[in-house]
Amino acid sequence: MNSRLEKSIQQLKDSLEASIEQLLPPFDARPEQLHSAMRYSLCDGGKRVRGILLLLCSKIFKTSANPLPASVAIECIHAYSLIHDDLPAIDDSDTRRNKPSNHIAFNEATAILAGDGLLTEAFKILSEHYKETPELGMQLIQECATASSSLGMIGGQMEDIENEGQSVDASTLEFIHKNKTARLIQAAIYMGFSFSEESKHLSNEIRQLGYHLGMSFQYIDDLLDVQSDEQTLGKPTGADLDSDKLTSVKVFGIDGTQKKITEHTEQVEAILKQIDGDTSTLFNYIQFLQNRLN
Ligand code: IPE
Ligand code: IPE
Ligand code: MG
Ligand code: MG
Ligand code: MG
Repeated sequence: MNSRLEKSIQQLKDSLEASIEQLLPPFDARPEQLHSAMRYSLCDGGKRVRGILLLLCSKIFKTSANPLPASVAIECIHAYSLIHDDLPAIDDSDTRRNKPSNHIAFNEATAILAGDGLLTEAFKILSEHYKETPELGMQLIQECATASSSLGMIGGQMEDIENEGQSVDASTLEFIHKNKTARLIQAAIYMGFSFSEESKHLSNEIRQLGYHLGMSFQYIDDLLDVQSDEQTLGKPTGADLDSDKLTSVKVFGIDGTQKKITEHTEQVEAILKQIDGDTSTLFNYIQFLQNRLN
């Protein structure tokens, strides 16, 4: 990342994290163990990709509403999905963001409930903070709910589990990646653009942008599982191989996965050119994401 981009992304990350601090119940709210566990997974660590994308997209056109609560909400959903993803019954993963996973730091029951708490918190935040702009509020709630529903992220998680040990099938892989990961990234982008009237005519481009960026994001995640190390990644490597997950590396191999990433990235860049606002920071951030190491 060049230093100007780094500085503006860091500023967004800082304001997002300050809002997380402010909006989440304090760790000593009763029951303390539950709120500590919610804060453990949300407050410290993570790239904040979804929240940052939402903020960047909200700034392309003029807006009068504050996008920060929406960016906190999407990070609540993401953190909850990771807590549950790491549980023994799902991916059985002991580390996350260079720390013990939630169920290791606390216990399984607490991790399940902390995930439930964060999921609900997302909608509490959206409904409380956009009361003055009800049309925008309903749009944010609907998008966030649909993306994380059984027809979105949770459906992707279900087929991810169902296809462990199954034979190679490119269309199932597409379903899994599109739903478990791309859908929430698409929602972050869509929610960000929802803050401006001027973007209404771009809804098709915005959806496509989110889809292609989200797909390449998960392809890179699959690649890093075989190419990175635990220290850099902050979570176990080789985990997909161990559980014989249906990943892009299993379906397309390393070169084939790289080719897919390039194809989706080219689509992302072509779509960005069709958006008439100033997309330069978003463009640079997306380029940085394509070369990420964790
Ligand atoms: C990990 O997401 C799970 C996927 C959907 C690939 P991130 O790579 O965004 O994880 P954090 O938030 O930075 O830890
Ligand atoms: C997780 O996908 C997707 C969701 C949590 C919705 P992965 O299982 O590939 O994510 P990591 O690799 O554990 O971060
Ligand atoms: Mg998983
Ligand atoms: Mg996992
Ligand atoms: Mg993964």
